[in-house]
Amino acid sequence: MRSLLIIGLTCALAAPLAMARAIPDPNQKHAPGNEAVQTPIAQAGYSAAVNYQLQCAGCHLGDGSGSRANDVPRMKDFVGNFLKVDGGREFLVRVPGMAQSALNDEQLAVLINWLMRKDGIAGTSLPEHYQPYTGEEVAAVRHRSVLNVPNARAELISQMRAKGIAIEDGMSY
Ligand code: HEC
Repeated sequence: MRSLLIIGLTCALAAPLAMARAIPDPNQKHAPGNEAVQTPIAQAGYSAAVNYQLQCAGCHLGDGSGSRANDVPRMKDFVGNFLKVDGGREFLVRVPGMAQSALNDEQLAVLINWLMRKDGIAGTSLPEHYQPYTGEEVAAVRHRSVLNVPNARAELISQMRAKGIAIEDGMSY
């Protein structure tokens, strides 16, 4: 009984050492054809559609329909409404998913302009006279964090309500 206990204890103590030897394997090689160091996305020169897939679609889904179960609002046919209320234009840049993405300011501007298309994710919500974002505009507001995102968002949504805009963001009942 006693020797069993000692063997058990020795194994438990030795386990982390065994793992430390196995991971990472210093002799591990890249898979053939996969040797190049990854290019950071801000330098990769992908299209807005690809950047959206890589940086946003994991939460917002490919068509911008979002996921209520995960608190991700619908952008499809809704996101353009933010441009119709005070502070909404800035909010779209400062919202964490945008501001903290790995994209540079110019890419972010191009991505928002890509979202804001009649035949794109903004769809029917796009304001009539859409003013495209520029990299300079993004740079000017991006780094001012929104300290309380749910409150800031709720305030914009109530401005929309007051204007008679239907709140079809997938979140409200
Ligand atoms: C980790 C999940 C996640 C990622 C990744 C993400 N978002 Fe979001 N996004 C959210 C959530 C959740 C909200 C609601 C506000 C909040 O809580 O931040 C939101 C809000 C927004 C909004 C404001 C719309 C609204 O109804 O509040 C926009 C616009 C937006 N995201 C665009 C993007 C873009 C573009 C990207 C990619 C560069 C992106 N997001 C990446 C989760 C994400």
